[in-house]
Order: sequence, then C-alpha cells, then structure tokens
Amino acid sequence: MAVVLQGIRACVFDAYGTLFDVASATLRCSDVLGDKAASLARLWRDKQLQYTWLRTIQGRHADFWQVTGDALDFAMDEMQISGPGLRGRLMGLYRRLDAFPEVPDVLRELKQTGLAVAILSNGSPSMLTEAVESAGIGRYLDAILSVEEVGAFKPHPKVYQCAADRLQIPAGQICFQSSNAWDAYAASAFGMRVVWCNRYGQRPERLPGAPDAEIRTLAQLPSLLAHP
Ligand code: 2OP
Repeated sequence: MAVVLQGIRACVFDAYGTLFDVASATLRCSDVLGDKAASLARLWRDKQLQYTWLRTIQGRHADFWQVTGDALDFAMDEMQISGPGLRGRLMGLYRRLDAFPEVPDVLRELKQTGLAVAILSNGSPSMLTEAVESAGIGRYLDAILSVEEVGAFKPHPKVYQCAADRLQIPAGQICFQSSNAWDAYAASAFGMRVVWCNRYGQRPERLPGAPDAEIRTLAQLPSLLAHP
C-alpha cells in the first residue's frame, strides 16, 4: 500500500479492540462458558460501550472499570450465566487481555522511525497500565492517556483534544488508529488524521468524519506513513 499520510509526528492508538482483543477474556473461560463465550463477549462489549455513551450524555461519569463491571453484570444476567468465581475471573482477565499478534512488532517499528507513540483510551489508568505491562509493550509507548484526565468518554471532543495537549502536537499531525469505527470517525471529525483498523469487517459509519485510510490489521500501518 502506498504512503498516504505525510507530516505525521505521532501515532496514537485506541486500546480495547485495537491493541487488545476484548474477546480473549471470555474465550479463556470457555471451560465454563462453552459455546456462549463469543456471545457473552459481544453483549458485554456492546453494553460497556452503551454505558460509556449514556454516562457521558448524562454527565454522570464513572471510570471504565466500574462501567465494565456493570456491563458484565447486565450481560451475565441477560444470558443467565453464573458460576462460582466466574465474574471475578472474567474481570481479572479483562485487565490482561491478549494483544493482537502484530502489535509489539508494529509499535517497535513506529518507535524506531522516530514517531511519538501513545495510547488514548476509555480505560482507567490502572487498567491500561496492567494491560500494557501484561502485553510487554510499555517500552514502545511515550504516553498512556486515559479519558480519566478529562472525566468523559469517547467520542467527546475533549478526549481527542487531551491527546494533542498532552503530546503537544497539533491534531492534524497525529495519526489515530482505532478498530472502533465510531471512534475513528469521531477522531477524524475532530481533526486528527485517522487510519481505521477495520478488524471486524464493519460497514462504514454514517457519522461526521472520514478516515484517511482503512486497513485490516495494524501490520499494514507502517507502510502508510511517511517517515518524519
Ligand atoms: C477504548 O477507548 C473505545 O474501548 C475503546 O479503548
């Protein structure tokens, strides 16, 4: 794929679904969940995102750890799933989700080219720190930015502004990567350059913004970026 993005000084990544596989927690509990593992992962994730949007609209922020637990409670209740210690096991696994296989190599390569590399996520600082440590990718990151700094979830514009402020790089010189289409479109509408990592083959959103490029895995990202 040809280089399409010039003048980029930082690569900023969404975390959940983009760097970390949110389905890996339930998959690791397949011994108990059986063939419900994938459906539980989907409902848990859908509910978790809904709660972030609703809480932000209501001005009733709670951190992502609480939202994630509330969403799991809803999903287990809805699917009538229970079991001794299961909730605690799933929540524990959510703190050290598997990174997608290409992630360490891609981050290393970007760092070597002289770009600033960061995470910008709904995750609470402790969740993100633990996930990063567990995946062994901390050495490639210049910053781990949590929405807790602004007290609102994505796609509130002040979340994307936080990345520009903290990195001291204008939004137009930041390339943001997300596998969550709505997040990719919102970052683009905010003014970032955006590569939508469409891991799940989603249809394009009908929302403000337009990603600059679409890839299937992050392995395709470095070839899109001109070296700084
Ligand atoms: C994240 O901010 C949206 O879950 C996604 O990491």
